[in-house]
Amino acid sequence: MDFSFPRYLAAKRGVDDRALNLGVWQALVERLSALEGAPMLRVLELGGGIGTMFTRMVEWGALFHVEYSLVDEQLENVLYGMAALNRWGARQGLEVITDDRRLFLHGEQNIFQIEFFPETVENFIGRVRETRRWDLIVASAFLDLVDVPVLLPFLKDLVAPGGLLYLPLNFDGVTIFEPEIDPELDRLILETYHRTMDERGAGDSRTGRRLFHWLRDAGLNILEAGSSDWVVYPKGGGYTPEEVYFLQSIFHFFEQSLGARAEIDPRQLSRWLNLRQQQVKRGALIFVAHQLDFLVQIP
Ligand SMILES: C[S@@+](CC[C@H](N)C(=O)[O-])C[C@H]1O[C@@H](n2cnc3c(N)ncnc32)[C@H](O)[C@@H]1O
Repeated sequence: MDFSFPRYLAAKRGVDDRALNLGVWQALVERLSALEGAPMLRVLELGGGIGTMFTRMVEWGALFHVEYSLVDEQLENVLYGMAALNRWGARQGLEVITDDRRLFLHGEQNIFQIEFFPETVENFIGRVRETRRWDLIVASAFLDLVDVPVLLPFLKDLVAPGGLLYLPLNFDGVTIFEPEIDPELDRLILETYHRTMDERGAGDSRTGRRLFHWLRDAGLNILEAGSSDWVVYPKGGGYTPEEVYFLQSIFHFFEQSLGARAEIDPRQLSRWLNLRQQQVKRGALIFVAHQLDFLVQIP
């Protein structure tokens, strides 16, 4: 497939919209409305990709006046995100002013200042931790890629007292493809895929459940937690084009992660992926990935 990571993030938006835990979301919105009295809410997003969480938070009524800092290590995501937000702002009827890495979006009811930082979170934190504070840090579908116990103390330093961490879409070790192809092969492929996440150096395939312990050990207070599973199934007999791209991307990740693993015969993997592709074409595939969302308060 002609895979593009920013395109995958755009396709994932709708799947995430359905998945996000509404209890956790509602608690976030209530807490934010208490903070919105400040002239400009300060939000930092880590691993923010192309900015889909920013547009969601505005469209779903969580943000009105905000200085939004978005850090992502992939320049490709940042460039795609800036162009997408530019078009999005115009569609919302906002005045859009841009420079090389900032967007200013102004409307009668809203002011949004978005600054993109194309660098690693580790590098960004090292530069700003003595000088800057935010009211809210967002890390969506991100913590399962990094060393969370190392990161959490730094996040505590970056948030003003009483501020919030919104941490949605943390993978939690369960992937389901239905219908089964071959129970043994399905199990081997899924277990090995999860193992690749654990052996990457940073990240953990059970980040969701581990966050309960990591957050407590860091002295952080969980205000709400709940599941946010991705669920893609043939609604009305098929998938939307975005869902098809999303599923193709998942297959691409499997191919990339497992192609060179000793545990799996490459011909078996390729046969398995072909059969999964055919299930998509027939409108038969069901895909579920278990994830957990958290809202956390800084003491
Ligand atoms: C799964 S994507 C999620 C993107 C977005 N938050 C979302 O929910 O759609 C993870 C993102 O984190 C970024 N990323 C991974 N490790 C990073 C790091 N150490 N520093 C900065 N960005 C990182 C990747 O480039 C990618 O865009």
